[in-house]
Amino acid sequence: MQRRLTASLAALTMIALAGVVAAQKPADKPKVDEAAVARARKTAAMLDDVYKNAIVLITDKYVHDESDFAAGAAAVQLFKTISDKGWHNVRLLDATGDPFDAENVAKDQFEKEGITSLKQGKATVEQVVQKDDEPYLRVMTPVPVVLKKCIMCHPHYEDARPGEPIGAISYTIPIE
Ligand code: HEC
Repeated sequence: MQRRLTASLAALTMIALAGVVAAQKPADKPKVDEAAVARARKTAAMLDDVYKNAIVLITDKYVHDESDFAAGAAAVQLFKTISDKGWHNVRLLDATGDPFDAENVAKDQFEKEGITSLKQGKATVEQVVQKDDEPYLRVMTPVPVVLKKCIMCHPHYEDARPGEPIGAISYTIPIE
């Protein structure tokens, strides 16, 4: 009796353990180091602060009329240089449906869904992805109409609700 009980307890434990192992190993989710994801998330937040403050500062101090070189244009060039150098990938996107440059739009599903979420009020969206067997953190943050001056070149920004993002920055940061 005692042996049978022990045997069935052992069997039950095996089944329970098998369940735990199965739950920990979903076939389609690659393993990522959570501490490394947190570091990538912090890098994205730091870059976002640096880039946005630079764009606003340049617009405030150097852009006086429509013929001046726009901080948006400077950002697009800077982002391309930094991305080509391989530090991380970063793009400035339109969220209004009416971009200055047709290149500056959400290209894939993550970016398209990201724009929708940001417009619904989410502060940030993110996703861990694998590219060529390497993990990356994709992050999107909103760009609101921070200055009246923005409307000088993008008149339709006037239609945005207070705080509604008219653009977004899309990052792909290596998880290291
Ligand atoms: C002097 C004119 C000018 C001003 C002022 C300006 N922009 Fe732009 N913006 C542009 C131009 C030109 C582009 C296209 C850049 C490119 O693709 O090379 C652009 C691009 C953008 C984009 C990318 C989507 C698109 O429309 O192509 C966003 C988002 C953006 N600007 C936001 C802003 C914000 C926010 C402000 C205020 C802080 C601002 N802009 C002020 C001229 C301006």
